[in-house]
Amino acid sequence: MHNFFSSTVLFSEISTRKHNNNTMHLHLIVVILVIFSWFSLNEAKNHLEHKKQPLNQCNIFKGHWAWDDSYPMYDSSKCPEIRHEFDCLKFGRPDEYYLKFRWQPDDCDIPRFDGVDFLTRMRGKKIMFVGDSLSLNNYQSLICLLHAAVPSSNIIQATGGVQTWIFLDYNVSITMYSALYLVDIDKEQIGRVMKLDSVNRGGNVWKEADVLVFNTWLWWYTRGPKQPWDYIQEGNIIQKDMDRMVAFERH
Ligand SMILES: *[C@@H]1O[C@H](CO)[C@@H](O)[C@H](O)[C@H]1NC(C)=O
Repeated sequence: MHNFFSSTVLFSEISTRKHNNNTMHLHLIVVILVIFSWFSLNEAKNHLEHKKQPLNQCNIFKGHWAWDDSYPMYDSSKCPEIRHEFDCLKFGRPDEYYLKFRWQPDDCDIPRFDGVDFLTRMRGKKIMFVGDSLSLNNYQSLICLLHAAVPSSNIIQATGGVQTWIFLDYNVSITMYSALYLVDIDKEQIGRVMKLDSVNRGGNVWKEADVLVFNTWLWWYTRGPKQPWDYIQEGNIIQKDMDRMVAFERH
């Protein structure tokens, strides 16, 4: 603001001097260039200072996807846990452009993912993703990221029950618990009842985890044959259907 003001003053001083003079024109051009560089310098400076906000004061969710040539951080075709339909590289997709983006908060920089640091901090912990296929994507992505960071360490897939991979050298387990709506869907005499107030089914398993990552949304507006419930229950009231947004907010 200060720079803008002083340059405007400078500009008008020059403009009031005698006209019809080539040097005069040159001066004007120089002044205009100076004003522009002041603007852009200021903008760049503000931008930098702006970004230096400490992480704990920064809204990391406000941002954009930024191109990063150093990405991707793993080769999906080398990952032990990835569904075929997500493994584009293995099945011949030629471009990698879509893999080269990272999240950039507007007001700060977040540290680059460091798999060894992550595993070290999480030693002895159970991490569990709960939700729909978006959670599955996150779950597989995390396993691939970690595997790429420590490719020769001992990794095993737990048998039985929910899908789990264990990084033995760090004693870190990562689990996927599928629950499209998070809440229970129980088979009863009238049919499949989605219970907005109940997480008995998953709740007991979730308690075993040290870190829980929940996600749901996609299925709330699903209707027709793909809808995996017949009735919806809130408290003692069982209905054939209700406003889906209201149901989502109450669940
Ligand atoms: C692994 O972590 C669990 C807690 O999740 C703990 O009970 C167990 O003793 C640890 N095992 C080893 C070998 O450190």
